[in-house]
Amino acid sequence: MVMEEALILAIESSCDETAAAVVKSGREVLSNIISSQIALHTVYGGVVPEIASRKHIEKINQVIEEALRTANVTLEDITAIAVTYGPGLVGALLVGVSTAKAISLASGIPLVGVHHIEGHISANYIENKELEPPFICLVVSGGHSHLVAVNDYGEYEILGRTRDDAAGEAFDKVARAIGLGYPGGPKIDKVAREGNADAISFPRAKVVDAAYDFSFSGLKSAVLNYLNSCEMKGIPVCQADVAASFQKAVVDVLVEHSMHAVEEYGLHKFAIAGGVASNSSLRETFARECAARQISFYHPSPILCTDNAAMIGAAGYYEYCKGIRHGYDLNAVPNLRLGERI
Ligand code: KG4
Ligand code: ZN
Repeated sequence: MVMEEALILAIESSCDETAAAVVKSGREVLSNIISSQIALHTVYGGVVPEIASRKHIEKINQVIEEALRTANVTLEDITAIAVTYGPGLVGALLVGVSTAKAISLASGIPLVGVHHIEGHISANYIENKELEPPFICLVVSGGHSHLVAVNDYGEYEILGRTRDDAAGEAFDKVARAIGLGYPGGPKIDKVAREGNADAISFPRAKVVDAAYDFSFSGLKSAVLNYLNSCEMKGIPVCQADVAASFQKAVVDVLVEHSMHAVEEYGLHKFAIAGGVASNSSLRETFARECAARQISFYHPSPILCTDNAAMIGAAGYYEYCKGIRHGYDLNAVPNLRLGERI
């Protein structure tokens, strides 16, 4: 793979953030514009796909123009356009994909479709200039929980995945149950700091015959059962203790599986990615456990953990260098698998 200098215009619209960025040679962010729809979806307690698509259409041109303006470049300076084409909400993805195709067609700039999770993983390259594959990466977001061996740029081996809920989904559902609202992850993170993580004993699920797979639905049910039984017995619920004990159960499982993989694969580099990777307890625990094993620990800043386009620009750069180009038949693929190229 020849690493040439390239300026990537990146577009991301797979869920509820309309985002565009300009990234130089995979690692230098010249602009990173994010228009969040969180306030819009909060009223409904979660993302409403139809509303997300409509808002993306309203915002996308503005966001792209702002990304170019902030980076102080024009389309003439851009080497390639990278866009998330899956996985995600089909209507939301289509807005980014159609816009990227239109700009590419009008300008003649090559088009590179990017996998959203590959973007999350690549967010680690931006602030850790020395990080190169191979390494192990835990991707934990609202829709995904994957333990991945990053064997090379764009080459992934999925070691484990969730059998049911994603880690972020569990955070969001538990937050709703204890009255914290949407989005749950950051709220649980904050409230948990005031609570006792050993107050309630919640289960740490193991998946038989798949040491690296996760399961969070049993934990979510255990929290709901605990809340119901408190209500029936008339015992007041301590929101902070439930948040802290639930968070610890998630963190324990994520850390145990990840450290097991790092040791078994003999790699000395470990990274985290995705919205849940901004969780303060998860970051602290990984920092401690990696230091104890003399493993280098990498994580993006919180703003690069949740959905953004800079990470798509980083991933798009390495895909571009590999010679990946997409035609105008590029479509949104809501269930695109990691490592799969369509
Ligand atoms: O990566 P992301 O922005 O979107 C997806 O691709 O899914 O992740 C969003 C998820 C949500 O479930 C949110 O609750 C969770 O990340 N999240 C957190 C934190 N910040 C965001 N979970 C735990 N602790 C946090 N600090
Ligand atoms: Zn994401």
